[in-house]
Amino acid sequence: MPGFELFGPLERKEVNDVLETGILMRYGFDGPRKGVWKAKELETAISDKLGCRYTQLVSSGTAALTTAFAALGIGSGDEVIMPVFTFVASFECVLSVGAIPVLVDVDETLTLDPPAVRRAITPRTKCVMPVHMCGAMADLDALRQICREHRLILLEDACQSFGGRYKGKALGTIGDAGTFSFDFVKIVTCAEGGAVVTNDEALHFKLDAYSDHGHDHKGVDRGADLHPYIGYNFRISELHAAVGLAQVRRLEEFVAIQRKTHSLLKAILSEVPEIGFRTIPDPEGDICSFLSWFLPTGDITREVVAELRQQGILAGNFYWYDNNWHYIRKWDHLRTAATLNPLSEPQRQALLSLEHASFAASDRIMSRCISTAIGLLWNEEQTRQKGEAIVAVVKKVMAQRAAKSRVPQA
Ligand SMILES: Cc1ncc(COP(=O)(O)O)c(C=O)c1O
Repeated sequence: MPGFELFGPLERKEVNDVLETGILMRYGFDGPRKGVWKAKELETAISDKLGCRYTQLVSSGTAALTTAFAALGIGSGDEVIMPVFTFVASFECVLSVGAIPVLVDVDETLTLDPPAVRRAITPRTKCVMPVHMCGAMADLDALRQICREHRLILLEDACQSFGGRYKGKALGTIGDAGTFSFDFVKIVTCAEGGAVVTNDEALHFKLDAYSDHGHDHKGVDRGADLHPYIGYNFRISELHAAVGLAQVRRLEEFVAIQRKTHSLLKAILSEVPEIGFRTIPDPEGDICSFLSWFLPTGDITREVVAELRQQGILAGNFYWYDNNWHYIRKWDHLRTAATLNPLSEPQRQALLSLEHASFAASDRIMSRCISTAIGLLWNEEQTRQKGEAIVAVVKKVMAQRAAKSRVPQA
């Protein structure tokens, strides 16, 4: 997820355009800004690139999710079905609008398992939110079918997968709305930023107003704007949008590099019969930010991780099962409802009930999974070295285990 690795003159040029006008805010100041509208330009560039009608830029992926929930009418007491493997922002935003996160198992796509989604539906369910983790997608046909049958909103958290596609359509544009993050470690970055995309004009009006204190943005005088809804300030600045504009124009360049490196690394790891790979519903649409691979058991995977650490080559290989941020096992603050201000009682009860919930199916998958982040700056030789080092570690661990199992028991 490394857009910052290729930061240079194109990004500087866009930022300098803004610095020369001195107008750092995305709205108003029509005269002094001398025709420089980076946020507007970036919204058009994203809509064109993804083939959708509307893009609303905001200040982060977290702001994008919160804005999307609010504009989609998801709030107090509504249940949002989401996966147990994601970044914490996904459930933070559900809680922030008064809704209840309903956590369900993932399958080998590393996101929502459709049968688990079906089992989690209740009369209070309002939305299904797949999270397209690590650059690749959920089984969107199956999830769309469920949403159609039960009249549920499909919101794609595509924060990690800008530029990914599913059966010819851009991720984020398939559900009712989709969200993206452009934070510092995403494939396209503007330091901090995000976007909500949709094809629905009425929804876009709400997204636009909500992210700027409810302003209707209909007039030329900002002070005279009406405010049809209560909103917040989730505005992006012109400086951030300028960086994003240069980076979005380079998306295909970044994806092409990642695909080439990913394919070489996968070929190297494929030599080991014990290594399997993540299920990708549409492999051509994977932006290849990560190569996610599986070992036969959780114990073997832990030993491989320990050996990678021991050899000083663990960096960039993510064992999500033990990671503090991405898997439910370590979300103690969620399970104990550790908020600074009071939650509603239904929200609090739902979170406390997670203490006794079992996600055995996800544990079986996540405990065997390692995701290797693909660097934009690796050359072929470095990729080979990294792949061969991983293969050597896996073979060493397998050989040690085989030797141990041959030792006669006393
Ligand atoms: C799946 C997912 N959703 C939401 C977010 C939030 O994005 P941001 O960091 O821009 O607030 C992230 C960020 O990593 C993410 O990975």
